[in-house]
Amino acid sequence: MSPATDKRSILITGCSEGGAGNALALEFAAQGLRVFATARSLKSMSNLSESGIETFALDVTAQESISALKDEIAKRTGGTLDILYNNAGSMYEAPAIEADPSQVRKMFDANVFGLFDVVSTFSPLLIAATAHKSKSMPTIINVASILARLPFPFASAYNATKAAVSVYSDTLRLELAPLGIRVVTLFMGEVSTKLRSADTVSFGPDSLYADVEGKVKERTEESARVSMTPAALAKQVVPKVLGNNDVSYIWKGTNAFIVWLLNAVGPRKVFDSTMMGPVQFDDKNMVKRIYERGQRFVGLL
Ligand SMILES: NC(=O)c1ccc[n+]([C@@H]2O[C@H](COP(=O)([O-])OP(=O)(O)OC[C@H]3O[C@@H](n4cnc5c(N)ncnc54)[C@H](OP(=O)(O)O)[C@@H]3O)[C@@H](O)[C@H]2O)c1
Repeated sequence: MSPATDKRSILITGCSEGGAGNALALEFAAQGLRVFATARSLKSMSNLSESGIETFALDVTAQESISALKDEIAKRTGGTLDILYNNAGSMYEAPAIEADPSQVRKMFDANVFGLFDVVSTFSPLLIAATAHKSKSMPTIINVASILARLPFPFASAYNATKAAVSVYSDTLRLELAPLGIRVVTLFMGEVSTKLRSADTVSFGPDSLYADVEGKVKERTEESARVSMTPAALAKQVVPKVLGNNDVSYIWKGTNAFIVWLLNAVGPRKVFDSTMMGPVQFDDKNMVKRIYERGQRFVGLL
């Protein structure tokens, strides 16, 4: 076990190789922090342990896993944690009215309830870190998404998890301020990771939207092509987290700035055409085909 150090400590969830959490772990370590990197499998973080980062197994949907980790971190730091970075998450894409309820619930467990449980369990360590009297306040970062603000078709449940995280996080900000803890919400733009894969998009031949399934897969492939790398995201986010205590919202990742801007000044439907085009909802013939499938489905045609 590594001895206690004077370095500021950070716990990051969801640090599997190839993802944002992994790149963030490397970047926070490069900036001199003591990083506790976690993921469901230790094997997925072997590049981090090889570079001297302390890695731990954590499933954010299992309270016993969260509590055991809290005890371990407390042991290693003497009972404090300076930064908690809630990054773990998963994405399930499906038409809202055809989605598999068990997959939706699993995603809410990881993205929403798991995050709540991690915050509640680790908050005592963050409160204890106020004793460090450093310039930087103990901080919680919650990873939302630009999709919390966009009507991105066929990801309604995922978008809802991120909207839940953003509203929870913003409220938590006010509740934890009197305790001396800063809360930051990250409205993350697109980043090229394994979170989205065209292979997992499967509406099936009976879907009312079967005709646009190919377009949805293309949309995912295109996003992977144009999005920034996890390392580039980490380079932009880490200075914001370690900088000014007044920063409560971070918008970083591909398209984050434009979504921030239009969300701030545009009418609510400003995003509709850019959301509809990639899935052919702007094509009258395609909309007619989907409409007719709906009519046939209920026996009206
Ligand atoms: N990529 C984007 O374009 C994008 C945009 C906006 C927001 N985000 C958010 O950014 C965060 C990181 O995602 P990413 O893009 O880096 O995807 P990723 O590479 O798939 O990373 C997600 C991480 O979360 C972990 N995870 C999933 N369920 C978990 C659970 N129950 N307990 C613990 N860990 C769990 C994954 O572990 P496994 O490897 O075991 O699955 C993985 O380590 C997520 O919250 C995501 O929603 C991503």
